[in-house]
Amino acid sequence: MKKDIFLLAQEKYDAGNVREAEKILREIVKFSPKGVRGCVSLAILLIRQERPAEAIPFLYQCQRIEPDNASIHEYLALAHSKLGNMSDAKLSAGRALELNPAASLANNVLQGLEVLEIGNAGQAPDLVRQRFDNAAQNYDDGRRSLDYDTPALLFSAANRLKPDGFGRVLDLGCGTGLGGEVFRPKCESLVGVDLSASMLAVAHDKAIYDELYEGDLLSLLRSIPTGSIDMIFAAGVIIYFGRLEEVFTESFRALRSSGVFLFDLLDGQNTTTFTVASSNGLIYSHSPSYVESCAKSRGFLLGEKQESRFRYITGERAEPGHLYTLIKSDSLESLHVQN
Ligand SMILES: C[S@@+](CC[C@H](N)C(=O)[O-])C[C@H]1O[C@@H](n2cnc3c(N)ncnc32)[C@H](O)[C@@H]1O
Repeated sequence: MKKDIFLLAQEKYDAGNVREAEKILREIVKFSPKGVRGCVSLAILLIRQERPAEAIPFLYQCQRIEPDNASIHEYLALAHSKLGNMSDAKLSAGRALELNPAASLANNVLQGLEVLEIGNAGQAPDLVRQRFDNAAQNYDDGRRSLDYDTPALLFSAANRLKPDGFGRVLDLGCGTGLGGEVFRPKCESLVGVDLSASMLAVAHDKAIYDELYEGDLLSLLRSIPTGSIDMIFAAGVIIYFGRLEEVFTESFRALRSSGVFLFDLLDGQNTTTFTVASSNGLIYSHSPSYVESCAKSRGFLLGEKQESRFRYITGERAEPGHLYTLIKSDSLESLHVQN
């Protein structure tokens, strides 16, 4: 009987009827306040709805009942980190990892906190690589069934700016080459880089790239001679970064004057910079004002900014997003703060 009610809540949630799902879960909790499953499910729904403060009391209630349940500590860590309660988040993540050293969400929360504290690029590359190694075989079919149009939209934006051809192009996080397929006809040369060997294997078989590199896109960017690339694009990739400073600095440096950088991001609603956007902790959303000030301070001019329709996070409330076009300007007026 209970299983049916949980299933019903899940079905409502999956169908986008979050209010109804919440109502059902609240009924379950009311009926059985000591039922950990009900309380945790409700807490997860609230966190996904960016209401972490409401989730926390339910999680503490569960923690009192099952103090050694690592998942409860993980969700507490996530909720606290979303609220900026760094020490509580660390405490909960630490406890989750003591109980279960493989607790990946706790690990990601700790990495995210480290990002905020020491300002590195904000990635969990091993987890991202694993995720896409596992997804590679069915990736293209999955994206097609979701009407994935980010590469096509980025291509149209690129074409409006550079109708005569794109020159030497770099596809950051090229994956299986869905972006490369669209951009190829206008490129003089096309280079792709990706963390995942399995995604790259699919791209390789399509024979559309001049060169493919396995590794971190930032490492590749750092190795590129200054001013040697005409266009850089990244479809569905920069969402895996928290801080944008280094990606922007290195892309700006690698581009020649008037070169173009195109990418998409999710809009962070309750943040002035960036925040973890998915419960697995891998995807970030960014405040558009942070994106723009970060780009401008590196010397980029903001070209087009277009709403994106594609939702990267399924089964959770995904933030709306934007496609950005940045243009490298060498004029001093556009350079506000270079750091
Ligand atoms: C959602 S897929 C998008 C793939 C492709 N751009 C597309 O439009 O289909 C994200 C890709 O970014 C790659 N990725 C994420 N972070 C990366 C990084 N730091 N360096 C290189 N690749 C990265 C992942 O391995 C994955 O293949």
